[in-house]
Amino acid sequence: MNDFVTLTHQGREFRLPLVTGSEGEKAIDISRLRQETGLITLDPGFANTGSCRSAITFVDGERGILRYRGIPVEQLAEHSTFKETAFLLINGALPTQKELTRFSVMLNDHSLVHEDMKIFYQSFPRSSHPMGILSAMVNALRSFYPELQNLEEEINITVTRLLSKVRTMAAMSYKISRGHTVVYPRPDLTYCANFLNMMFDSPVKPYELDPDVVKALNVFLILHADHEQNCSTAAVRVVGSARVNLYAAISAGIAALWGPLHGGANQAVIEMLTDMHRRRNLGALVDRAKDRKDPYRLMGFGHRVYKTYDPRARIMKQMAHLLLEKLKLSDPLLDIARELEEIALKDDYFVEHHLYPNVDFYSGIVLRAIGIPTNMFTVLFAIGRLPGWIAQWKESMDDPAWKLCRPRQVYSGPGEHDYVPIEER
Ligand code: CMC
Repeated sequence: MNDFVTLTHQGREFRLPLVTGSEGEKAIDISRLRQETGLITLDPGFANTGSCRSAITFVDGERGILRYRGIPVEQLAEHSTFKETAFLLINGALPTQKELTRFSVMLNDHSLVHEDMKIFYQSFPRSSHPMGILSAMVNALRSFYPELQNLEEEINITVTRLLSKVRTMAAMSYKISRGHTVVYPRPDLTYCANFLNMMFDSPVKPYELDPDVVKALNVFLILHADHEQNCSTAAVRVVGSARVNLYAAISAGIAALWGPLHGGANQAVIEMLTDMHRRRNLGALVDRAKDRKDPYRLMGFGHRVYKTYDPRARIMKQMAHLLLEKLKLSDPLLDIARELEEIALKDDYFVEHHLYPNVDFYSGIVLRAIGIPTNMFTVLFAIGRLPGWIAQWKESMDDPAWKLCRPRQVYSGPGEHDYVPIEER
């Protein structure tokens, strides 16, 4: 079989090399296309464009497969913890006991946030969205933690700081937004238990940790830990390609994740289900989602890559049921979600468009059961996606094919014409 494809343009033939990934997927290498042919490609939304080679995450959207460093996400959700999965993504292999202990010690050592940062939180208007605050605060971390001289130490400590402090900062912002005392991280608690304690412990009502809730949070974060070249990860890579510091690149990722078509969908799903529950008009809203002239969409449905059931949604759905059962809670939004899924999966429009529930469809039900307020849902997604962003950024830093990200365009504006002085316009 040829390891190139032939492009014919104006009677000339050009050979473009074919690249094969480790799972057999094929790509046309167009890196010399413009140089050799004078042509560029046009691909809105990069739906057909591979921006890099990556050894971190494998997604097969047709078969509903997701693996981190080769390990199926289902196995990680069942057996691993978020901390261990973060290590796996960032370092390429599961840690030994010694490595995991060292990683835990480092996360603990860097878990405090500079006390002066508290003033920033207090200065944001009370109605600010936590994602806007988080993005700004992560960018501000560089000012509080200047660059270290030794590059390896700088990267290792920055990575640990981010993983540990973003969790502290998220809980801190929640406490401050409620006008409550900040709860500090504790060395005796695991990563997820610590977060829950910082969120919900209070001097007047101590928080009781429930292992099922801690497990649910671990699973939620593991399922969000990476998803190859999605919008926010692409943002981290693009911004990082200018060789800006890691805090700034992650801050850009958080900003991208905030959007309702991406991570912000978990909040949007709960708002949609609440609206459906209140108005009891499921059918009418499904019809609106099918109407091409109406911008309304079913949030938590559809995915750029998955053309079958998102494997993360399957685990999340199961987790929602288990958690509600164990906590003896009933959530009317879970019933609405199930009903909506049933209607959509039988509807020709959704079947023909390959629209299935995505990770965000059931995740809000899990977060609600844990007690996370709706406007913090996407912050939880950001904590989960951090190891992925970091791993992808590190990989791009070490990539021998690294280049500043700078796409081309097809100009469609006016032709050259002269400047007109203001009095003559
Ligand atoms: N409801 C109704 N129609 C939809 C939906 C939806 N949720 N999603 C896609 N479609 C239709 C769309 O109208 C279009 O129809 P047509 O071809 O007839 O014009 C077709 O499906 C293809 O849509 P697209 O927007 O070109 O597809 P995309 O790959 O660019 O979009 C998406 C992917 C996630 C932006 C989109 O499915 C969507 O808006 N979903 C709702 C938001 C959501 O749940 N986002 C979370 C994604 S998973 C978490 C993450 O990784 O970020």
